[in-house]
Amino acid sequence: MLLGSSMAPKIILAAFFVIFSLKFYSAKSETWVQGGYWLSGSGFPSSDINSALFTHLFCAFADVNSTSYELLLSASDEKEFSNFTDTVKQKNPSVSTLLSIGGANANYLTFSTMVSNSSFRKSFINSSIKTARVYGFQGLDLCWVSANSSSDMYNMGVLFEEWRATIELKAGNSSQAKLILTAAVYFHPDLRSRSFPVKQMEQYLDWANVMAYDFHSPQWYNSTAAHAALYDPTSIFNTDYGIKAWISGGLSSNKVVLSLPFYGYAWTLANAQDNGIGAPATGPAISGGGAMSYKKIRDYVLSNGANVMYNAAYVVNYCTVGSTWIGFDDVDVVKIKVAYAKEKKLLGYNSWEISYDDNWMLSQAAAQEGNNDGRNKRRLLAIVLSTSAAAILLLGCFLIYYFRIRKLKSKVGTFLLNMLKEAYTLPNPMCTVSGFYCYKL
Ligand SMILES: *[C@@H]1O[C@H](CO)[C@@H](O)[C@H](O)[C@H]1NC(C)=O
Ligand SMILES: *[C@@H]1O[C@H](CO)[C@@H](O)[C@H](O)[C@H]1NC(C)=O
Ligand SMILES: *[C@@H]1O[C@H](CO)[C@@H](O)[C@H](O)[C@H]1NC(C)=O
Ligand SMILES: *[C@@H]1O[C@H](CO)[C@@H](O)[C@H](O)[C@H]1NC(C)=O
Ligand SMILES: *[C@@H]1O[C@H](CO)[C@@H](O)[C@H](O)[C@H]1NC(C)=O
Ligand SMILES: *[C@@H]1O[C@H](CO)[C@@H](O)[C@H](O)[C@H]1NC(C)=O
Repeated sequence: MLLGSSMAPKIILAAFFVIFSLKFYSAKSETWVQGGYWLSGSGFPSSDINSALFTHLFCAFADVNSTSYELLLSASDEKEFSNFTDTVKQKNPSVSTLLSIGGANANYLTFSTMVSNSSFRKSFINSSIKTARVYGFQGLDLCWVSANSSSDMYNMGVLFEEWRATIELKAGNSSQAKLILTAAVYFHPDLRSRSFPVKQMEQYLDWANVMAYDFHSPQWYNSTAAHAALYDPTSIFNTDYGIKAWISGGLSSNKVVLSLPFYGYAWTLANAQDNGIGAPATGPAISGGGAMSYKKIRDYVLSNGANVMYNAAYVVNYCTVGSTWIGFDDVDVVKIKVAYAKEKKLLGYNSWEISYDDNWMLSQAAAQEGNNDGRNKRRLLAIVLSTSAAAILLLGCFLIYYFRIRKLKSKVGTFLLNMLKEAYTLPNPMCTVSGFYCYKL
């Protein structure tokens, strides 16, 4: 006999417990998530957060130790993170807090190595759960945006499975509620043709925060654009396309949380008179990469007396001052996106990042729209109508264009087609060029 007679039943019991709890695991039934990320070092004290506007707050970011693969907090973050939960609960005792791990500055090699080895994963999992418990967080969030190979993606799935199993096991031994487990992911389930572990995400995560922004940036895109377009009649880089792909790829709509950007981008126009969406541009304006928080955009709009325009085909706001063009999500766009999340029966919304807001305007608008059922239908009807109108218009233009091209055998058609193909195969901007969603603006 390999096992002592007293050991065997214990092991069988433990195994049964794990299998049982996994089989019958179901996420604490969240009904509607009003989430927001708070970034340490943003200069915005956690005590200033208006937690009443949120159901979940993500404290960002913890890192991973490159030799022990345990969770790593800098001394200054540890100070701030240790009382984050107590601090935000003072204004809203029912808000839940999650510790977010990773971000744009996370070391790719450390994460890739950690997920590849079971003993490293174990160190990471155990220390993350321990840290969450010690500091009173109700959940953990993985924000690994540089995963870029099929083995990274596969191993990420293994990590989710083991993380969940450990959380279930530890919860069985404790009076505290189970930790929530989430991940922040690309707007589409395929990242440079590598697929996220959708099956494991569906099975083991409470939800995924789908980062539907940074589709275009003035640093690498030669025309003005809606970087977080809800729809885009000319390309696949839009929120609706990504959300539908996640859902058809196997992630339940009630495990999808739509992440909203509380920032926009400023472009320099090639010609100040040509200032719609898709106008030729020569690069970023105002800041180095062109990224601007909503607060800075509002200040800019007010101090320049700029007209804020709205484009219903993309669902985006923009304004022009001289040859500076800024595309962003204003209050109405945020409301339309939250109405979209409700209509598609998503679990809720999230924002990057709460300190970019201007006097809680966007967070308030999102919270109100989320709790407002009557107006959603009308708003959505308007979106549907304007989208169909745009689609019909576009189809018309396309047909005219198509026949013209056929007639003229114009080189322009081929050029445009190549451009579209190129756009499709562009690297993920978040991992390579910009990644502003994780930086201080
Ligand atoms: C990482 O872990 C190792 C081994 O436990 C430890 O010696 C080292 O100080 C840690 N690094 C940091 C930056 O904390
Ligand atoms: C939280 O910790 C910070 C840093 O140690 C401190 O400045 C702040 O007063 C603490 N807040 C609360 C509510 O304990
Ligand atoms: C994991 O890492 C440990 C320590 O470096 C090593 O002994 C072990 O062989 C590794 N396991 C795998 C599956 O690579
Ligand atoms: C993935 O990204 C890291 C850094 O971000 C890089 O070192 C590595 O070569 C990339 N791997 C692939 C397969 O692109
Ligand atoms: C459960 O709790 C007991 C007593 O505190 C402890 O001895 C045991 O190691 C715990 N088991 C797990 C799986 O954490
Ligand atoms: C487009 O951007 C590139 C840099 O990415 C620049 O070299 C080129 O001149 C730009 N083209 C136009 C038409 O502005």
